[in-house]
Amino acid sequence: MSRILITAALPYANGDLHLGGVRSTYVPADVFARFCRLSGKKTLFCCATDEHGTPIEVNAQKEGLHPEKFVEKYHKRQKKDFDALGVSFDVFYHTHSPENHKLSHQFYRAAQEKGLIFEKEVEQTFCANCTRFLPDRFVKGTCPFCGALDQYGDGCEKCGKVYAPRDLKDPRCAICGKSPTAKKVKHAFFKLSACGEPLDAFLSTAALQKDVVSYVRNWLTDLKDWDITRDGPYFGIEIPERNGQYFYVWFDAPIGYMASVQAWCDANGEKLSDWWNEENQVVHFIGKDIVYHHYLFWPAMLDAAGFAFPSRIPTRGFLNVEGEKMSKSRGTFVLVKDVLGRFSADSLRYYLCTITPNSTADGNFAWKDFQAKVNNELIGAYGNFVYRVLSFIQRQGGVVPVPSKGNPVDEAFEKRIDAFFGPVTRDLEQVGVKEALEKVMAFASEANKYFNDRAPWHLKEEKELNTVLYLSAKAAFALASALYPFIPFSSEQVFKQFGVFPKKWADVSAFKAGLVLSDVKPLFLRMEDRDVDAEIRKLLKKH
Ligand code: MSP
Ligand code: ZN
Repeated sequence: MSRILITAALPYANGDLHLGGVRSTYVPADVFARFCRLSGKKTLFCCATDEHGTPIEVNAQKEGLHPEKFVEKYHKRQKKDFDALGVSFDVFYHTHSPENHKLSHQFYRAAQEKGLIFEKEVEQTFCANCTRFLPDRFVKGTCPFCGALDQYGDGCEKCGKVYAPRDLKDPRCAICGKSPTAKKVKHAFFKLSACGEPLDAFLSTAALQKDVVSYVRNWLTDLKDWDITRDGPYFGIEIPERNGQYFYVWFDAPIGYMASVQAWCDANGEKLSDWWNEENQVVHFIGKDIVYHHYLFWPAMLDAAGFAFPSRIPTRGFLNVEGEKMSKSRGTFVLVKDVLGRFSADSLRYYLCTITPNSTADGNFAWKDFQAKVNNELIGAYGNFVYRVLSFIQRQGGVVPVPSKGNPVDEAFEKRIDAFFGPVTRDLEQVGVKEALEKVMAFASEANKYFNDRAPWHLKEEKELNTVLYLSAKAAFALASALYPFIPFSSEQVFKQFGVFPKKWADVSAFKAGLVLSDVKPLFLRMEDRDVDAEIRKLLKKH
């Protein structure tokens, strides 16, 4: 059986999980992973924290922690948030790991053997006072483009331009505040400019997202060689044979995907090569800010090391909050744990899916929209339907009744129960979570209409009543099955109420007459004005 390996971009172990990442990356990846598992595919869903690089080092220093302690702290906190949100990683590992160390060296040596590594002298900022090089964020100064003060050495937060530390005007060492000097040093470069051909072949992969490929192709004509070295001290992986130098965080980060698979394989008696090969699918979920790394660097590295290209890279846009860029200073930086402190994981998952189309389009998180979607759609069209049907049956004795041959309306409805999965499956195979979810919810509306039209509370004739209740309960079970990848917690509750779980995706054969219902209760709590308004006030306060 062919296998499917699913990864989600590795979050920096540099803070708590926020809505942007879960909307673009983790929720879509989890929906897809759950769909694949239920479809009977041998699935492995991998992630890890990305633990290297200077932003982490700088923040660790601020918190007075050794980087190892600092990343461990945020790894644990993120793990907790992922669990609370129901993101079902098979493995959530670390890039600061022996597996990643070993594989990174393997990639480096393979690239060397292919003649893809060369050495070049570069000018680096150096602090004579601290006697250390100052990579990326260890330098602060004035943006050379817009003049914004107090910007980091790797790019300007005001105008968004990217540059090297030596380009800053008026540079200062971020540790001691003294002005640094320039020092020449030899770095190792990855010859991306020589990878045009394999990258061209890779970009022809049929399942890649067309809107992304069309702009990535423009970069092919101007591939820039890539400085993969940082001078120590650096929290990262030391490069053998390059005394005191380390891999740049973006060299070992994607290798971290493979290292996580390796760690899982070692713990489960399997082989990495059984997962990462030409026959299987390898699917990377990412946000659009890291397209360059995943559509160019990473495939070039894979090719150099003799590994298969990824099959698919679902790429989603940015999340705005109340129409504005997510930003800590503006207070529009919403954390997952804050939302989950007040509302359920399924509500959040549901809402995020409704604002995440299968493209790089940006999405907008708005509290009133969140509330309306949850109350009107999730609860209004789905939750209430399930509760009304099941509690009706409960009042009749709590056993799913035996149906008879129904009237044409019943027959047409039963056909729809079997047929609505088809288009949903096709959307999910193409990783279209919003598109698939809309189709499921359209069927929820049909089911509601059926129940209201057939109004079992008016039916006197027992056979007819039983048929309508049977079909309504079957629709409820089918809906919970179809919604399981999106909102697993409430679907599991429905399965428990029925006392059976679906055997497979799009298979409702576990449902039958005679099932004894138990513990029937509403699936969701409405999002009340007072709670939503409290969240909105929090945003305004920070403004
Ligand atoms: N560590 C890198 C990824 C390495 S993958 C080998 C990284 N980490 S991140 O924590 O900044 O982002 C994690 C995921 O969230 C990425 O897919 C990123 O694109 C996504 N997003 C981060 N901020 C986002 C928004 N504001 N909106 C949507 N997605 C965002 O990048
Ligand atoms: Zn200094």
